[in-house]
Amino acid sequence: MTTEAKEEILAAAEQYARYELGGDVTGHDWWHIHRVVRMANHLAEREGADRFVCSLAALLHDVADEKLNDSKESGLRKVRDWLDARPISGEDRAHVMDIIANMSFGGGANPPMRTLEGQVVQDADRLDAIGAIAIARTFLYAGWKGDPIYDPALQPRDAMTPSEYRTGKSTAINHFHEKLLKLKDRINTAAAKAIAEERHAYMADYVERFMREWDGAGD
Ligand code: ADP
Ligand code: NI
Repeated sequence: MTTEAKEEILAAAEQYARYELGGDVTGHDWWHIHRVVRMANHLAEREGADRFVCSLAALLHDVADEKLNDSKESGLRKVRDWLDARPISGEDRAHVMDIIANMSFGGGANPPMRTLEGQVVQDADRLDAIGAIAIARTFLYAGWKGDPIYDPALQPRDAMTPSEYRTGKSTAINHFHEKLLKLKDRINTAAAKAIAEERHAYMADYVERFMREWDGAGD
């Protein structure tokens, strides 16, 4: 494929993602995709991964999200149909589908990504769930779901299925313990690890400070 052909596909994928995710208020809005694409490109350069595959998978990764579709299968079918209608090599198409189908957190139980490109895109997505922006996304999502910011009566749970993450009664602060503070140990690439460590420290400090204020210390 020529560089121009690749650019054309990426521009079309961007339009498609904007159309599908533009109005989302669950933390998967277009700007999340934009940040993940940019980070995936940065990591791809550092790690020597294929930038076309990384960008395309990053652009399409949440179009198939279970939360926005009737099922994971129907979401994946939508992305496959989109890819099939474009002049992309069979190899790249299969690669992008493999990344999108396997990149979710899955309660931490999913197998590791098979390819460097998959690891890069997964890291980019996870990095958007660690740090200052992640704090904002978490409270936005909790509000959308109807969860309170914090409730001492609701303790974080350790092992949860993906559907429990979505439907179980929890709190925004619990979500840090249940998922976000665990992500830095699930980063694949060295380039992402350094960024994750720094963002994690900030987020851990934030949660600690939240609890200090909650407990009334420092008044
Ligand atoms: P991904 O971007 O990998 O698809 P999720 O769909 O799990 O991740 O979450 C998207 C964003 O919403 C994340 O920033 C995450 O912190 C937040 N989020 C997901 N589930 C919850 C929850 N139960 N409570 C609060 N925030 C959540
Ligand atoms: Ni995402």
